[in-house]
Amino acid sequence: MHNGIFIAGEGIDGAGKSTHMKLLADRLEQKGHEVVRLREPTDGGWGQKIRKLLVEGRGGISPETELEWFINDRREDVEQNIRPALERGAVVVIDRYYYSTAAYQGALGFDPGTIIRDNELFAPRPDLVLLFCIDPEEGLKRISSSRDGFSSFEKLDYLKRVQANFDSFKGSHIQRINADRPKEAVAEDVLLKVSGLIEQRSC
Ligand code: TYD
Repeated sequence: MHNGIFIAGEGIDGAGKSTHMKLLADRLEQKGHEVVRLREPTDGGWGQKIRKLLVEGRGGISPETELEWFINDRREDVEQNIRPALERGAVVVIDRYYYSTAAYQGALGFDPGTIIRDNELFAPRPDLVLLFCIDPEEGLKRISSSRDGFSSFEKLDYLKRVQANFDSFKGSHIQRINADRPKEAVAEDVLLKVSGLIEQRSC
């Protein structure tokens, strides 16, 4: 058990999740909370290996190895960053977590439900998962206007399968946010959902 608050941002590439998790972290800090900002893949050793794969392509490694790397990265993140911050009572805001593994590696053929269960054996469950939803075609359009190339994680049919996995996740801690709206409207929705959680915790 811990006193911290744990919020994860999830969604397919191009949904705007990173922008909104950053805005959220800024707002919580302004309100005086200790905020720990994290992202997965992390900037640690495993995370760097994964980021290289994202740039260079999946060519050399099997889906099993890919899944293993994401899990290894998360184990380190949980031990070194997530648990200590939650035990201190901080608000942890993480950009991607095990729902990404369930959705993305699930789209390679693994069972998403099994991935979630295996992760929950070692990784604390977030108090709130903000799931940013956007049509994969619209998401890709947004990426192509801001980046030069696509990685193999960002191909349309693959992203459609990833989105279908995200759509299948259930639980009262999972809140869906329509990300196909102006940034201000999305940010307002995020704050509304998070303040509900923080108010609950402080009474
Ligand atoms: P992303 O947050 O999009 O990083 P950036 O915006 O810095 O490029 O994450 C990189 C990719 O990693 C993204 O396409 C989803 C993928 N991913 C997985 O396939 N499985 C996972 O468990 C995680 C955390 C990410």
